Amino acid sequence: MRLVLPAIALTALLGAQPPAPLVKLPAFAPGTATLDAVLQARRTTRALVGPGLSLAQVSQLLWAAQGENRPGRRTVPSANARYPLELYLANQGSPTLPVGVYHYLPKEHALRKVDARGPGEILGALKGMQPWIAASPAVVLVTGLPDRMAGKDSVRREAYTFWEGGAATQALILEAAALGLGSGVASGVDFPALHAALALPAAERPLVLIALGHPKP
Ligand SMILES: Cc1cc2nc3c(=O)[nH]c(=O)nc-3n(C[C@H](O)[C@H](O)[C@H](O)COP(=O)(O)O)c2cc1C
Repeated sequence: MRLVLPAIALTALLGAQPPAPLVKLPAFAPGTATLDAVLQARRTTRALVGPGLSLAQVSQLLWAAQGENRPGRRTVPSANARYPLELYLANQGSPTLPVGVYHYLPKEHALRKVDARGPGEILGALKGMQPWIAASPAVVLVTGLPDRMAGKDSVRREAYTFWEGGAATQALILEAAALGLGSGVASGVDFPALHAALALPAAERPLVLIALGHPKP
């Protein structure tokens, strides 16, 4: 007799959690703000308040930073199209997205929940954390995997990964300005502690945080 176990039972036997279902994002919808107006509006905002981001706003922001604007290629250039970046959205207080940390999947333009905690709980627990970041309705973490740049020396792998992280960050914060949202880039953070708190793979390096929300009136 052949014993056929459903995938879920097999996962339970092996002790691993099945991946959370995908949260499909609405399609990117081009806005009307001009690039010049957006560049004029962009600034660091540290007093960020709710309501949290809607699913439509999350879609625009993540697509701007790493979405596919044609099959297999993204909004931001990438050395040899190796795409070393990953994006995570830590969210709290959204009317349309439950609290948690979500991994952005560019090909599917979807999110997968990877942690049930919001930014306040995760970042608030880190020593020396700047309080305005943990208090923000949403925080995007940009990580990099320099090993995806195989064939390049280690200096270039690192430099190109950071270069691309900067380009994705700029695209995201300009999109935030286009949506009338406030944003603040932050790297004065204990990234090894954040790496441990999120149980990220050893080869994946946190590069920068981007706090998002509505500018406090
Ligand atoms: C790589 C990088 C790291 C930053 N880290 C922090 C930070 O940890 N905390 C903070 O309050 N601002 C941080 N900033 C924001 C800068 O302080 C801000 O961009 C600068 O003062 C210029 O102001 P503006 O963004 O309003 O034009 C960072 C900016 C960059 C580009």
